[in-house]
Amino acid sequence: MAHKIDVDALVGQLQDVDSFRELNWEGTFQEYVDIVTQDPRVTRTAYQRLYDMIISYGTDEYIDSKKRITHYRFFDDPDNAGQDAVYGLDIPLMKMVNVFKSAARRYGTERRVILLHGPVGSSKSTIVRLLKKGLQHYSKTPEGRLYTFQWIEGDGEGPETLAPCPIHEEPLHLIPLEVRGKFLAQLNEHLDEDQTVFLEGDLCPYCRRNFEELERRHDGDWTKVLGHVRVKRLLLSEKDRVGIGTFQPKDEKNQDSTELTGDINYRKIAEYGSESDPRAFNFDGEFNIANRGLIEFVEVLKLDVAFLYDLLGASQEHKIKPKKFAQTDIDEVIVGHTNEPEYRKLQKNEYMEALRDRTVKIDIPYITKLAEEIKIYLKDYNPSKIRGKHIAPHTIEMAGMWAVLTRLEDPKKAELTLLQKLKLYDGKMLPGYTEDSVRELRKETSREGMEGISPRYIQDKISNALVVEGSRSINPFMVLNELESGLKHHSLIDNEEVRARYRELLGVVKEEYENIVKNEVQRAISADEEAISKLCSNYIDNVKAYTQKERVRNKYTGRDEEPDERLMRSIEEKIDIPESRKDDFRREIMNYIGALAIEGKTFDYKMNPRLHRALELKLFEDQKDTIKLTTLVSNVVDKATQEKIDIVKSRLIKNYGYDEESATDVLNYVASIFARGDASS
Ligand SMILES: Nc1ncnc2c1ncn2[C@@H]1O[C@H](COP(=O)(O)OP(=O)(O)OP(=O)(O)O)[C@@H](O)[C@H]1O
Ligand SMILES: [Mg+2]
Repeated sequence: MAHKIDVDALVGQLQDVDSFRELNWEGTFQEYVDIVTQDPRVTRTAYQRLYDMIISYGTDEYIDSKKRITHYRFFDDPDNAGQDAVYGLDIPLMKMVNVFKSAARRYGTERRVILLHGPVGSSKSTIVRLLKKGLQHYSKTPEGRLYTFQWIEGDGEGPETLAPCPIHEEPLHLIPLEVRGKFLAQLNEHLDEDQTVFLEGDLCPYCRRNFEELERRHDGDWTKVLGHVRVKRLLLSEKDRVGIGTFQPKDEKNQDSTELTGDINYRKIAEYGSESDPRAFNFDGEFNIANRGLIEFVEVLKLDVAFLYDLLGASQEHKIKPKKFAQTDIDEVIVGHTNEPEYRKLQKNEYMEALRDRTVKIDIPYITKLAEEIKIYLKDYNPSKIRGKHIAPHTIEMAGMWAVLTRLEDPKKAELTLLQKLKLYDGKMLPGYTEDSVRELRKETSREGMEGISPRYIQDKISNALVVEGSRSINPFMVLNELESGLKHHSLIDNEEVRARYRELLGVVKEEYENIVKNEVQRAISADEEAISKLCSNYIDNVKAYTQKERVRNKYTGRDEEPDERLMRSIEEKIDIPESRKDDFRREIMNYIGALAIEGKTFDYKMNPRLHRALELKLFEDQKDTIKLTTLVSNVVDKATQEKIDIVKSRLIKNYGYDEESATDVLNYVASIFARGDASS
């Protein structure tokens, strides 16, 4: 029988009658004023609401290179399982949230255009999308609720119709300016200082016309006008064009200010008799509909100069000017974004000076921390999304490594390679470098993160590699090759020097990959715990005898012998302990073992990562010939060797995330390196 889904049961789960009622609340003006006195936050400005919304998700504090950093959990996109999470940009995001904070407090930034500026694909649009989604969601919560009103039309006889304020403004705007002072004084008298209600702005032209007409009808009694008003909860929604707007300039010649501030409705002019009757006007420009929330200007610097004034007025004065009407008050967050090339044009354009002056620019650079960059790709390329294809270990890491390398500026210190710098940024330890030096490194750069390869390019190339037929897995080489061949036609690289540098960096990544897999295969070969344990106790017995100037009992012959100096050195040399330091090293180990013994504990090689590594390398050296890895290349493998190889393969699969195909690939690859003759490293 086919699988059956019970729709009624589904509905029962999804519907929440209480919250539906809450979200669709309607009431009288007096009822609204009661809500305001209980919860004055409903009157917050768009900036306040935006800031409080971000804060409502909570924060984490941490120290990075001795710098105190606040991470805003909001940008993890918890409501959507991290779909639009922004990684590795805590510092720029902190700057941005601080701008919102000062705007929320009316320190001045509420009168600026907030301009996110950065290279292509640095997550500018993602950030704005998050803000929009966040505001929509917040407006549905009890903490984030806000209200607007509609006019009850009709003469009391026939059925009444409701005409909402076209820009869904704050209901308190209905209180005439002359009595506002008194009203606010009464309201604020009982509120804490930080709850103080400010009331800015006047009714929109449409509502003012209604208000005046009704006032006349009621012989000037404005309180009676309020009887024609029904307040309702306002739910922001980009889809419904309520409180969330997006303006994207089309080609330069085709821009029309009506898209921003609304347009005359010619069909209605006949009905109302005049062009300047607000009922014959559609207040549906992006600025109108985005009132109370946020308007996004995509590629704001492509905006025609003629509309610049609309933008400037909207930010500076919080007013817009619809055709034929007086200025109209608005309350909305204005965020624009632009990429590097456009911004550089702006700097040369004197018309744009006015804009530049009224802009708070926030740089949104590329990620420069590898671990964070990798998260971008893991979001899309993980086993639950990529079915039927295996992504070999390090594939994404290597692609990300290259992307980050292209963004880094060469360190001023000649002895530090770019790859080492990347590792330091990534939080790895390097002898001779401290957190202070990492900070210094960051400081000495000028535009780091503002240039280089975008995540989008990497995403495209990984996708290309994934759709290639014929193999069940993709490996780093396939992706690195895609990345390389794409460089030829990369539309954003306009000079050969850069192209050459990027190619060179692919070489750096390949070399690093070689080191990583060599290491991994070595470990897989020597991951025989029993053998390491045996080697370790052998070593310790000898070290003990050596430091105490005793002889060692040979387990086979039962005779006492001199400590085996060759064995000890062959292990110590693996981790570069010079002859002159060997005594110190051995003594340290004995002291450590002694201290453990006092606590009643026994030594385990895993407690000392250096010794562990040395033992592994020694074991590898002893075993690599018995495994005859190099014979793999020639494909003629005897049965005994094949068995050993299979054990190594199964360790690669079990401990390092390979599958059968990629484990075979990587073994062949490492075998070929050893066949080249540099098996020592
Ligand atoms: N720091 C980051 N964290 C998470 N994802 C990122 C980050 N940077 C880039 N991305 C990803 O890269 C892709 C491009 O991001 P987005 O479209 O937001 O960039 P943009 O800055 O608006 O680019 P453009 O300038 O081309 O419009 C998206 O898939 C986005 O998720
Ligand atoms: Mg974008």
